[in-house]
Amino acid sequence: MFTRKEFFGGNWKMNKSFAEGKQFFTTSKNLNWNPNKETALFPPLHILIPLHYQFKDSFNLGSQNFYFEDNGAFTGEVSALMLKNEAIQYSIVGHSERRQIFKESDELINKKVTRGLNLNLKIIFCLGETLEQREKNKHFDIIKSQLNLGLKDVVLKHSEQIIIAYEPIWAIGTGKIATPEQAQEMHHYIRKELNKMALPSNEIRIIYGGSVKPENIKLIMKNEDIDGALVGGASLKPESFNRIVNYE
Ligand code: PGA
Repeated sequence: MFTRKEFFGGNWKMNKSFAEGKQFFTTSKNLNWNPNKETALFPPLHILIPLHYQFKDSFNLGSQNFYFEDNGAFTGEVSALMLKNEAIQYSIVGHSERRQIFKESDELINKKVTRGLNLNLKIIFCLGETLEQREKNKHFDIIKSQLNLGLKDVVLKHSEQIIIAYEPIWAIGTGKIATPEQAQEMHHYIRKELNKMALPSNEIRIIYGGSVKPENIKLIMKNEDIDGALVGGASLKPESFNRIVNYE
């Protein structure tokens, strides 16, 4: 049977200076990181590349976003190819803050996923419903549509190339976490949908995000369809991210 390797991502969002980033990794070097787990940190772009050059032998670093075109007149954007050329191997795509604040559509996200996968980047593909959608009982339909549109015509070279991050928007940065039952129910649903899309559903990692903390990770990870976490606030401090990764 295929065992899915647990994945933990630390999404720093728009936080930290270069000095603070260096401090994070310097402290992290003295902590114990379970080698059986895959981890990656996602610093803001202005410090990603210098931190990657300095710490790439010990830590995986990735981008929070990219544009699907390779180069040209796209002021303010950085392409997947540019990341790849600097040996960056991971990127988040379709985070709810990109979808909501920067109005990224499913179609745009699909172009990014496709380009990223073509370049062999590992993509952390995010999806999630709003509180209103959940209260109206539309959450399954929303997730199904985000999956089908975002991963339209996607071909995987291997199953570890994509990681699905289910992040209910009402749980992000709010301290309000989905119950383990709600999370497991949705992860199971996503796995069934991936199967319908002819993707290797038993091999693809599906991780949870939204107010994950050292105090609640153990309960979340008890569920069979939850393969890790995408962590925002609690990934800003090395000790708390480390406690999440080594939750057992
Ligand atoms: P949070 O963010 O852990 O601060 O809720 C998670 C995310 O947005 O990925």
